[in-house]
Amino acid sequence: MRRPLARALTGALGLIAAAAPPLAAAAPAAADSVVVGGQPARITDAPWVVALSSRDRFGGTRAGQFCGGVVVAPTKVLTAAHCLGREALGGEPWQLPDFKVIAGRSSLRGQGGQEIRVAGTWVNPDYDSRTNSGDFGVLTLEEALPASYVIAVAAPGDPALDPGTAADVYGWGDTTGSGTYAMSLRSARVQVLPDAACERAYPGGTGVAYRGDTMLCAGDPEGGRDACQGDSGGPLVARGRLIGLVSWGSGCGQAENPGVYTRVSAVPPQRF
Ligand code: ARG
Repeated sequence: MRRPLARALTGALGLIAAAAPPLAAAAPAAADSVVVGGQPARITDAPWVVALSSRDRFGGTRAGQFCGGVVVAPTKVLTAAHCLGREALGGEPWQLPDFKVIAGRSSLRGQGGQEIRVAGTWVNPDYDSRTNSGDFGVLTLEEALPASYVIAVAAPGDPALDPGTAADVYGWGDTTGSGTYAMSLRSARVQVLPDAACERAYPGGTGVAYRGDTMLCAGDPEGGRDACQGDSGGPLVARGRLIGLVSWGSGCGQAENPGVYTRVSAVPPQRF
C-alpha cells in the first residue's frame, strides 16, 4: 500500500489537475512560483490551518502530509472531498490506520503543536469527482482544539467574496509546479477574481468546467502566485474569514489559469 512519496503525491494529488485541459496543463509553471510565489507563514498567525497526515500511506519524511484543512469548530476540520477519495487514499478514509490532523505546527519536521486522530469523516454526498463540484468534506477530531484556532466562515454576500479582494492561501504543497513540496507552511497573496475569469479559463468541453455557484475563482492576474498540488483542502482567507478551500486548477501560477476553490459560503453551516 505504501508508495514512494513523490509518486504517491503526484498520483493522488495530480488527479484534479490532470482533469484540466491537456494543452494548458502541459505549459510550464511560473518560475517564481506556495503554494507557488509565496512566503513562509507563521502557524501562530494562522492557527486554523492544519495538515492532513498519514505516515502509513504517504511516508514519514514530511510527517505524512498529503492535503490541507481548516479548523471551523474545535472538533471540526473542513477539507476538500477529493482529499478523502479512493484515488487519493487508496481506500476509504477510515481504513487509514493513522489518519491524523497536525495543528499548531509549521514545520513538518518539527515537534510543536498537536497531532490529533480523526475520529470520523463525512464527504459531501453531492461531490462529483467528474465536475469537481461540491469539493468539501468534514473531519471530526478525537480531541478538541482550542477555540482560538477556529476561523469564521464567510456567509453568502460577505464583501470578502467581492472580486478584487485580497486573499491569502496557505499550504505545504508544491512550491514550483514540478513536485518540490514545502517542509514549512507557506502562504501566497492572491485576489478574488470575477467568475468570468475562471469561466474563460475553464469553459468545459474537454476539461472540467468552472461553476460559480459552488466554486470561487482566485489568483494573481499577473501570474506567479497560486496554490499548487498538495495544498488542496487548505484555506483561502480574506478579511479574516474563510472564503475558499484549495480545489483545482490547471498548472500552477499561470496568469491565464486561476486557482479554483470550493466556495465555502455555499456550504450549509449545519454541515459543521
Ligand atoms: N488538486 C490539487 C491538490 O490536490 C490542488 C491544485 C490547485 N491548483 C491551483 N493551480 N490552484 O492539491
